[in-house]
Amino acid sequence: MQILEAITSRKSVRAFKSDPVPKHVLAQIVEMAGRAPSAMNTQPWEFIVLGGQLLENIRKANVEMLASGKVPEPEHVVVGWTNDSIYRQRQVELAKQLFVLMDIQREDKEKRARWMERGFRYFDAPAAIILTTDRSLKEGAPDLDIGAAMQNICLAALAFGLGTCIEDQGVMYPEVLRKYGGIPETKRIMIAIAIGYPDWDFPANKVQSSREPVESTTTWRGFD
Ligand SMILES: Cc1cc2nc3c(=O)[nH]c(=O)nc-3n(C[C@H](O)[C@H](O)[C@H](O)COP(=O)(O)O)c2cc1C
Repeated sequence: MQILEAITSRKSVRAFKSDPVPKHVLAQIVEMAGRAPSAMNTQPWEFIVLGGQLLENIRKANVEMLASGKVPEPEHVVVGWTNDSIYRQRQVELAKQLFVLMDIQREDKEKRARWMERGFRYFDAPAAIILTTDRSLKEGAPDLDIGAAMQNICLAALAFGLGTCIEDQGVMYPEVLRKYGGIPETKRIMIAIAIGYPDWDFPANKVQSSREPVESTTTWRGFD
């Protein structure tokens, strides 16, 4: 697969077939993650690859936490926009698209809750990769590097016919991941990536997220 084709065809996949992903394939994908650039080659990442019964236990525990009303305490916060901002507008636009595809009415609290739960279940993917960084690093310093590794995972996955969804929903309850995934307190849990063979018949997987035209995000100086 060509690079530009991979970049343009990658999209978030929110439903997967139950077929397991072979360990040797996941191993190649995390190896590609580790090929990402990092500041002064610090490589400030670690990957915890979850599958099998252990991942089932994590899904169950996450959903129990959610149902109990436990307030999530993620260790890396991705949401920080105000309600009157363009960022909020884009978030709402995506949610609208997904809800139309999933036939979820705005006022249907039950269906909305079931939808939300899916994220905490890693969209029932057969595997999930958790990205962590070392707490000895200044908070925020490794974020660009982790992001590069994250994108490498999503792009490398395509070469094996796999789909991914980067999801902070998957790391909302760090205590669950620490308990079942054996992640020590010395590691900051950054982000999860659900990974598996896409179920393209699932309505939400038909979503095509929009992008701002490049003219409105790019400034040229010194060009004709
Ligand atoms: C840091 C980060 C966190 C995300 N968290 C979630 C999430 O919790 N649940 C979800 O369904 N999608 C999540 N996404 C996926 C975004 O919604 C998605 O990337 C965006 O809508 C653009 O769509 P695309 O990935 O299909 O191009 C996350 C993406 C990023 C980069």
